[in-house]
Order: sequence, then structure tokens, then C-alpha cells
Amino acid sequence: MNILVTGGAGYIGSHTAKLLKKTGHTPIVFDNLSNGWAEWVKFGPFVFGDIRNEEALYQALYEFKVDAVIHFAAKAYVEESTRLPEEYFDNNVCGTVALLKAMKRAGARHLVFSSSCATYGNAKTPTIREDHQHEPTNPYGLSKWQCEQVVATVAPVIGLHFAALRYFNVIGNDPEGEVYEKHEPETHVLPNLIRAAETGGTFTLFGTDHPTPDGTAIRDYVYVMDLALAHIRALDVIASQECLISNVGRGQGVSVRELVTTVEEAVGAKVNVVEKPIRPGDPPELVADNTFLKTWFKHDFKTVKDVVAGLAGAKRSG
Ligand SMILES: NC(=O)c1ccc[n+]([C@@H]2O[C@H](COP(=O)([O-])OP(=O)(O)OC[C@H]3O[C@@H](n4cnc5c(N)ncnc54)[C@H](O)[C@@H]3O)[C@@H](O)[C@H]2O)c1
Repeated sequence: MNILVTGGAGYIGSHTAKLLKKTGHTPIVFDNLSNGWAEWVKFGPFVFGDIRNEEALYQALYEFKVDAVIHFAAKAYVEESTRLPEEYFDNNVCGTVALLKAMKRAGARHLVFSSSCATYGNAKTPTIREDHQHEPTNPYGLSKWQCEQVVATVAPVIGLHFAALRYFNVIGNDPEGEVYEKHEPETHVLPNLIRAAETGGTFTLFGTDHPTPDGTAIRDYVYVMDLALAHIRALDVIASQECLISNVGRGQGVSVRELVTTVEEAVGAKVNVVEKPIRPGDPPELVADNTFLKTWFKHDFKTVKDVVAGLAGAKRSG
């Protein structure tokens, strides 16, 4: 299939583009490089453009005879979203509306949307099911929830089949090192931890007084290549059903302190931790209930320990 990958020059998008190519598809990356890397577009054609530009999207869908879209493009920094909420709604929500309009015009009828556990807000249950209430604690999470609602409302009217995958925290890199996790600035915990352990630099730990056993935030970490495969499987599922709304998580929580220890063991060096207050909008604990996920995606997810072991000392290109 010819698949338009919005945000395909970013972290998860580039890993998914690689897997799409490997599995016989053609990923057409559509990205404005606001937070992506041109050198990671190496698995298919590149269209430089902004998802808020409906005409540019339409042209790309038409020119490449696109069958399906995987929609990663978004601004995705929780803390930044609390300072620039209007930018988040403009980019993420207006961009998704423009994409739906372009897909309608071009006759592209399958969409996988990158949603997030941030749509849930503070967990009311130890693990979060898909029908958990949605009370996002930051504008980023709200923008993702609004996108989901827009997609779910528009899709049946325009005859679109869609999947909304609510990822938990994504970690790890392509094992071959062709693409890897790189954000600018890097706010994600694992690359920062590994760098601190390998270079002797500091690691900033935000929040040590969360209501969790060791006081640090608990997250459910998912390996990026496992997540990439979930997208390809989701495309199969929505080939024959109208909609799929699912968590993608391992169903196991790991605290930041536990992650620090795991990295220290893998790298063989102590991490110099600097403690800072909780960041605004950061929930204490987010762990998936993945009962539903297992009904449509039977897969052995890589453990955090294995992902970290693979990252320690790994060659990173680019
Ligand atoms: N990384 C995670 O742990 C995580 C968790 C849950 C959900 N998500 C979602 O997954 C998706 C990808 O996340 P990521 O970590 O790869 O982020 P990323 O920032 O690495 O990638 C996002 C890509 O989208 C592009 N982009 C942003 N706005 C655009 C616009 N207006 N037009 C065109 N391109 C635009 C950026 O240039 C970048 O290449 C996002 O939608 C994010 O909300 C990520």
C-alpha cells in the first residue's frame, strides 16, 4: 500500500516508516520538519508540508494515490503545551481537521491516528481501560482527545475507517541504528538518562513527591518497534471494520527511580540525579489496561530491561 505518514520525520514516524518499507509498503512522509529530521526520511518519498495546509495534503494524497494515512504529526511536549496552548490546538486539532478534509476530497479511506494516554488525565484505577474517563491535565492531552472526537465524528459521515491508538510512553530505537530517538530539546526520560550515565552528566528528575511508592512518576513504557508493528496490524484491522480505539501499552508500571537503576545496571555507571519539582500537568501514574489490545494484537512486547540493555553503548547514527 502507499501510506502517507504525517510526522514521518519524527521519532515514532521514522521508525514506523522503516517497518512499513520492510513489510512491503511505500511510506510517503509528509512533515514540516518543525521537530523532525530530514535525514530520517530514507524509506520512501518526502513531501515537505504543513498538515494545516489542506491543499498540500490533498496534492500528496492524490499524486501518490494514497490508500491509508498514519497521522503522527503533532506538537507533543506536555510542558510546552501549558505555556502555548493555542499553538497546540492550532497545530494538532486544526491540522487533523485539514487532514480529514483532504482525505475526503482524495478518497483516502483509512486512517490510523496517534492518540495518547495523556487523553485520560489522572488515573482513577490502577490500570487504565479504554472506557476510563477523559479529563486531560494539560493542553497537549486535551488536543489529542479533541482530535479523537473530531475523527470519530467525521469518519462515519465521510466513510472513513479509523484507528485511534492511545500510546503510553514510547522508548527505544531501531536496532540497526538507522533512526533513533532524538527530540530538540530532548525531554524524554530514557535518552536523557542514558546520556547522563554514559557521559557523567546530570539527569533531572522532575517530581519526587508524587503519591507513588517511591515518590517518582510511574509510566508504562512501550518499545517503539513494537508500537510501529501495532500500526501495521491496526491497518489490517480497519480494512474490515469501521473503527478501532485501543490503548497500546504493556500494562506494567515502572517508576523513574526504577528506570534510573535499570540504566545504571546496563551502562555500569552511576547517574548523577538532580531533583526538581513536579512539572505542571504531569500525572503521577499512567499504566495501560491492555486486555483489549491483546484481542487484536497478539505480540510479545519487549521489556524495559531489554530495551535499555539494547540502548546502552549502542551506535546512534546521524
Ligand atoms: N513519544 C511518545 O511517548 C508518545 C506517546 C503518546 C503519543 N505520542 C504521539 O505520537 C506522535 C509522534 O510522536 P513523536 O514522539 O514521534 O514526536 P516527534 O516530535 O518526534 O514527531 C512529530 C513529527 O511531526 C512533525 N510535525 C509537527 N507539526 C507538524 C505540522 N503542523 N505539519 C507537518 N508536520 C508536523 C514534526 O516535524 C515531527 O517530525 C505524536 O502525535 C504524539 O502526540 C507520542
